[in-house]
Amino acid sequence: MPARAEGPAGFEAVGSVAVRTFAAHQSPQVTRTHQSMDGHHVNAMAGDGSGAPHNHFADYDELPDGHFYDPDAEYEPDPEYAATLAPDAARQRRERIGPTGRPLPYFPIPGPLTDHGPAKIIAMCNQKGGVGKTTSTINLGAALAEYGRRVLLVDFDPQGALSVGLGVNPMELDLTVYNLLMERGMAADEVLLKTAVPNMDLLPSNIDLSAAEVQLVSEVARESTLQRALKPLMADYDYIVIDCQPSLGLLTVNALTAAHKVIVPLECEFFALRGVALLTETIEKVQERLNPDLELDGILATMYDSRTVHSREVLARVVEAFDDHVYHTVIGRTVRFPETTVAGEPITTYASNSVGAAAYRQLAREVLARCHAE
Ligand SMILES: Nc1ncnc2c1ncn2[C@@H]1O[C@H](COP(=O)(O)OP(=O)(O)OP(=O)(O)O)[C@@H](O)[C@H]1O
Ligand SMILES: [Mg+2]
Repeated sequence: MPARAEGPAGFEAVGSVAVRTFAAHQSPQVTRTHQSMDGHHVNAMAGDGSGAPHNHFADYDELPDGHFYDPDAEYEPDPEYAATLAPDAARQRRERIGPTGRPLPYFPIPGPLTDHGPAKIIAMCNQKGGVGKTTSTINLGAALAEYGRRVLLVDFDPQGALSVGLGVNPMELDLTVYNLLMERGMAADEVLLKTAVPNMDLLPSNIDLSAAEVQLVSEVARESTLQRALKPLMADYDYIVIDCQPSLGLLTVNALTAAHKVIVPLECEFFALRGVALLTETIEKVQERLNPDLELDGILATMYDSRTVHSREVLARVVEAFDDHVYHTVIGRTVRFPETTVAGEPITTYASNSVGAAAYRQLAREVLARCHAE
C-alpha cells in the first residue's frame, strides 16, 4: 500500500490531513472533491462566484472536521495511516523498534569529563555530494560540545561550507587550514577560530585549499600532512571532526590517514549505495597502507522521510548491506537544516527543541557509546 495517496487534482492525502500541493498559479475556480485516506471527502472549493477578492488558500486549508491545516506544524500521523507504514506499529512501540528495523538501545546521557584529550579524530566522508556531511559535522560537533566534550571542527573542503555554516565568511580569511598544511612553523592557534558554541572551535577553509591538492603531490609523506598538522592539537580536544570534500582525492586521503574513525552519511534516496563500494575500498586501502588504526564507525542515514515507502526501502537496503555498522540514529528530512546554514549556526542552538536537534544529540550519544564500548 502506498504511504502517501496522490489526490487527483494536486492534492495528496496525508493521514486525515489534506495537503495542498498545486502551484499558486493554477486556477482555483473549480470545485475539487477527493477522498482522503481516512474516508473523509475533502471539498476544496475556491471562489464564491461573487467576484470579490477571495482568500483561496483559506478554503484549501480547511479540513473536513473544521480544523485548519497549518503547513508548518508537525502532525502525528493518524493511527490508521501509521499502520500502513509499519504493519505492526504497536509491536514496534512496545519493543522499541527503531527506524532501522532493529531494537533501539538506550544511549545514556554522557557524564561530565574532568580531563580532556587526547582527541579521537572522526572523518565525515562520502565522495557523493550533498549527502549531509557538512550538516552532520556541524551538528554532531555542536551536540558533543553540549555534552561537555571539547570539539574541534576541521573544514577540509575548499568550498568552505562548514565555515559558512558556522557564520564565518571564507572570503575574508587570511589564514586557513591551507596555511597550516603548507607552511612549516605555522601555529594552529593562528588559524583557529572560536565558534559561538562553547567548547567548539573551527579550523576554517576557503578556496585556497584547492591548491593544496596539487601542491601536496610533490611533498614527502603527502598523505599524512593533515595528521602532522593536527598532532599538536590532540591534547586540547576530545573530538576532532573533519568535514571532507565530495571526492576521494588527496585531501580526503589525508583526512582518512589522520582519522581514527570514519562516519559515512548516506542520503536515503535511490542512488544512495552507488559509489559506497569505492569508498569502502578506499578506506581499506588507507587502513592497509597508511593508517592501520582507521575504522568505519558507522553509516549515518540522512534526509530520511518515514512517510515515503522509498525512504524506508532505501534504509532497509542500507541496513541489509551494512548491518550493525548503520547507526540506530537516523536523521530525518526537514527544512530546518537549510535554514541553519543561512543562520550560520548549528540546529542545536538555532532550533534547540526541534526534531533535528534531538536527532543529532541522539547521534552524539550513540557515537560516545560506541567509543566507550571499545
Ligand atoms: N536532514 C536534512 N534534511 C533536509 N535538508 C538537509 C538535511 N541535511 C542536509 N540538508 C541540506 O542538504 C544540502 C546538502 O547538505 P550538506 O551540505 O550537509 O551535504 P554535503 O554532503 O556536505 O555536501 P557537499 O558534498 O557539497 O559538501 C544542504 O542544503 C543542507 O542544508
Ligand atoms: Mg559539505
